[in-house]
Amino acid sequence: VLCWFYIFPVYRLPRDKDIVEEVLRQGEAWQKNQTGIDLYRKLLTDCCNPPRMFAVTKENSPLGKVLWYDGELYHSHTVNNETYSLFVQDNPLQLPLKKCAVVGNGGILRRSKCGRDIDQANFIMRCNLPPLSKEYVEDVGTRTHLVTANPSIIEKRFQNLLWSRKAFVDSMKVYGSSYIYMPAFSMKPGTDPSLRTYYALADTSSNLTMLFANPEFLATVGKFWKARGVHGKRLSTGLFLVSLALGLCEEVTAYGFWPFSVGLDEQPVSHHYYDNVLPYKWFHAMPEEFVQLWHLHKSGTLRMKLGPCP
Ligand code: CDP
Repeated sequence: VLCWFYIFPVYRLPRDKDIVEEVLRQGEAWQKNQTGIDLYRKLLTDCCNPPRMFAVTKENSPLGKVLWYDGELYHSHTVNNETYSLFVQDNPLQLPLKKCAVVGNGGILRRSKCGRDIDQANFIMRCNLPPLSKEYVEDVGTRTHLVTANPSIIEKRFQNLLWSRKAFVDSMKVYGSSYIYMPAFSMKPGTDPSLRTYYALADTSSNLTMLFANPEFLATVGKFWKARGVHGKRLSTGLFLVSLALGLCEEVTAYGFWPFSVGLDEQPVSHHYYDNVLPYKWFHAMPEEFVQLWHLHKSGTLRMKLGPCP
């Protein structure tokens, strides 16, 4: 009993359990609600203008423009000749996107057999360069149109690209010709690794296209959710992507969003579909984020896939 107490502090147990019960009560039933979809697109357009602002472009960030880092106070980058030349001209996506799948990295994807479902979407977004190797294909699919990459992954997994770039370039091949979406101007130490990532891809004629996340967009989306009761230090990558999808897509389905240690079958669930490394404790507020996503699911604004796929 003592051991159980240390692994799962008691105050969290009832909450996870209540959520499991609530999700089970709702069941698989889901009804699309066009009014809800239109409303959220309008709310997000008014606050954050996703089509125009989600990436740093030559259009929204001309030479001399000051980009304020959204993850740090008082730091900014003034767009100069070097950085300007790395920006895409304008939003490169053909809008509106039709069916979008946003794939979180939650352990519920394991043995979900949702790969085929995910691959049928018209636009597939993934978080943090997730593994797509053979053993996971059946559960998470193979196709990707946009994948986020945190500069910290480049530092840790690829030695900051200071040595060989081959391992990095090779491991990017699983993402085909997607956009790689990097928060280059969120935290000061992340800028150099992001620019190095850009050059590593460009120098090897990679099929991936770099899009730098616009810090103004990330900040306004953060405020949008703060006003709706999400209080973490920073939104999780997944919630940024869902917000982007709600702004750009006609229909959104979210997979792999389940920040709880117990599944719907009351069995333990790992944090990720590929490992059980837990997040830094109070950085994100994933359970709070889940509650918001669940509201959107219940109102028919987006669909959350939590059980196995047929
Ligand atoms: O870096 P971060 O913690 O944001 O993300 P991650 O662990 O690579 O997972 C990608 C996204 O999936 C997260 O940002 C969450 O939105 C979502 N996720 C979840 O809802 N439940 C989990 N157990 C794990 C991830």
